[in-house]
Amino acid sequence: KGLRVQDKGFLNTAVIRSEITYIDGDAGVLRYRGYPIEQLALKSSHLETAYLLIYGSLPTKEQHKFFEGEVMRHSVMHADAEGFFRSFRYDAHPMSMLTSAFSMLGSYYSEANPSLQGQRLYTQGDAASLATMDRQIYRLIGKATTLAAMAYRVRQGRNFVTPPTGLSYTGSFLYQMDHIGEENYTPNPVLEKALDVLFLIHADHELNASCTTVLQTGSSLVDPYSAIAAGCASLYGPLHGGANEAVIRMLISIGSPQNVPAFIEAVKRREKTLSGFGHRVYKTSDPRSFIVRKTADEVFKVTGKDELLETAMALHDAAMKDEYFIKRKLAPNVDFWSGLIYRAMGFPLDFFPVLFAVPRVVGWLAHWRQMMLQEGGVKIWRPRQVYVGAGKRDYVPVEERQ
Ligand code: CMC
Repeated sequence: KGLRVQDKGFLNTAVIRSEITYIDGDAGVLRYRGYPIEQLALKSSHLETAYLLIYGSLPTKEQHKFFEGEVMRHSVMHADAEGFFRSFRYDAHPMSMLTSAFSMLGSYYSEANPSLQGQRLYTQGDAASLATMDRQIYRLIGKATTLAAMAYRVRQGRNFVTPPTGLSYTGSFLYQMDHIGEENYTPNPVLEKALDVLFLIHADHELNASCTTVLQTGSSLVDPYSAIAAGCASLYGPLHGGANEAVIRMLISIGSPQNVPAFIEAVKRREKTLSGFGHRVYKTSDPRSFIVRKTADEVFKVTGKDELLETAMALHDAAMKDEYFIKRKLAPNVDFWSGLIYRAMGFPLDFFPVLFAVPRVVGWLAHWRQMMLQEGGVKIWRPRQVYVGAGKRDYVPVEERQ
């Protein structure tokens, strides 16, 4: 009673106080824990940045070594998981597999659900509960790459690869994806670095749809594996993490630069969407899109240019000077160029959202941890609605229904 729909789609609703990521959408600014994304992309690594996002400060050498060691140690999967992956249909979408796999992972670690076992919840100042929480964090980050590689290999009918020792987080991922049995195989260092930069800039983006889903799910005090599975499902959609896949499908459908004007007109008639453009928060270019564009050039030096690059550039240039897009402040987001890199590196099209989800596990966990440890405890996220359905009516047996 007396309720009004205040904010459809949460355009202007803040639901939490956060110290993790700062965005100024008008100025095109993105900072993790105060550090500009451009500096981190240039100087840091995905795992170092993961530590920063989760624990709030850049790690010392010892902290970094310990964190990396724990994450990599936990990247190995239980052998039973092989049967789980083999139970999918041969052409299952890898995001379906990854989402299910995160959920499956929770079944291995009942300690992650302390409240169900009558134990104390994760609490600031309680070392034992924080250590339990950290273990789930190491596991989820470590196993994300392994689960992703398993989803990739099972569809190819290839055997699974045990995570190697001595490689970086991204190097280990590429090794698990590509390894076909040669001795001393190591991934190409330029591609490894490029993917690490892409992982780093995808690691967090404050309360996007998937992160909000993780928090909403986590607010019922469920285990983090279930909350991450929920976030992964949310990321899968084409308006969110599925956009990098949608961009390439759009570019393939456009075909060549000369078809760009007709496509732009179709977008303006609302018959098509310009995937990879527009953002809820940025009203200017997404700062990550510049980093991705620069990284693409590094990758193309190794792989050769992607044949869709010219169409992408023509589309970008046409949209940036068209009144329709200027008026609505629509500019490229992180997904516009990233798919071209993934394609050039040889990843299959439907694997692109997985390459977004794997690094985003870090951001989801940072926000989940912050919420679980916030002062005053967790409040369940339970919004209200305005009911506009039928008034009270009586049940009619099926024989009497008209
Ligand atoms: N192509 C054509 N028109 C667009 C687009 C687009 N990509 N994006 C927004 N518009 C129009 C929209 O039709 C509306 O026009 P009008 O005011 O005349 O009705 C106006 O711009 C405002 O858009 P909106 O839909 O109110 O914006 P939103 O904040 O609700 O949606 C968005 C944001 C990202 C879902 C949307 O821009 C979109 O669908 N973009 C394409 C999908 C995409 O690239 N998603 C990746 C987002 S970034 C990475 C991530 O977070 O996953």
